[in-house]
Amino acid sequence: MSDATVIASVRALRAFYGRTQALFDVEFDVAAGGVTALLGANGAGKTTTLRALSGMVRRQGRIELCAVDASRLATEAIARAGVAHVPADRGTFAPLTVEENLLLGGHLQRSARTRAADIERMYNYFPRLKQRRGQQAGTLSGGEQQMLAIARALMSRPKLLMLDEPSFGLAPLVVQEVYRNLQTIRANEGLSILLVEQNAHLAFDIATHVYLLETGRIVAGGPPSEMRCNALVREAYLGQ
Ligand SMILES: Nc1ncnc2c1ncn2[C@@H]1O[C@H](COP(=O)(O)OP(=O)(O)OP(=O)(O)O)[C@@H](O)[C@H]1O
Ligand SMILES: [Mg+2]
Repeated sequence: MSDATVIASVRALRAFYGRTQALFDVEFDVAAGGVTALLGANGAGKTTTLRALSGMVRRQGRIELCAVDASRLATEAIARAGVAHVPADRGTFAPLTVEENLLLGGHLQRSARTRAADIERMYNYFPRLKQRRGQQAGTLSGGEQQMLAIARALMSRPKLLMLDEPSFGLAPLVVQEVYRNLQTIRANEGLSILLVEQNAHLAFDIATHVYLLETGRIVAGGPPSEMRCNALVREAYLGQ
């Protein structure tokens, strides 16, 4: 990829579940160091877009991630290229402890010392996880589970973090805490974020770029200041 200001670029992306096409020529960029948000109603194709980028669903088109042509790469290779994906169900292992989940998240790291240092770094971002390091992940509160999911993803030292509705099912104060943490981490780690979020107000607050998906197609995109004025967005999301 020649453009260093772009960490991900997606062109003519189609995705399929069996014979059913779920994405139709989706195109967008993720700015390096920024937060790009994908908005859209239930079933619009937000989760499918992240799954297509992670190689978890059959797809066609051109996907460049972290300066690598990821169009045909398998999920593990995409992770190795520097992409971490926190799925909607969070992807943590309920019977394992907080610390065991973090260790698994760091499995791409060869040195045990690096992994241990990374775990401490995560505990600094999320002190509550440190207090609960020996607790089974499945017994954490919803907010703590989301924080564990994010910390586990960061253990692979990604350049691009993809998050599928991190606010889902959480109380407003907990959502604020999760998003505050994300902003701190993004700034400290020089991370780029691709965020799927149904809560448009949240997305507009944190995002540097916003795209709107409708039935598998991108129908609008731009900086939040522009997108707030977009008729489609206002009608569907901002109640105006
Ligand atoms: N495993 C699957 N098999 C078949 N169709 C699927 C599958 N997963 C999703 N779809 C379909 O693909 C389309 C996009 O779904 P997707 O989950 O990407 O939407 P979404 O925007 O993430 O919605 P939500 O806000 O409800 O999470 C929908 O029509 C959905 O029914
Ligand atoms: Mg979804």
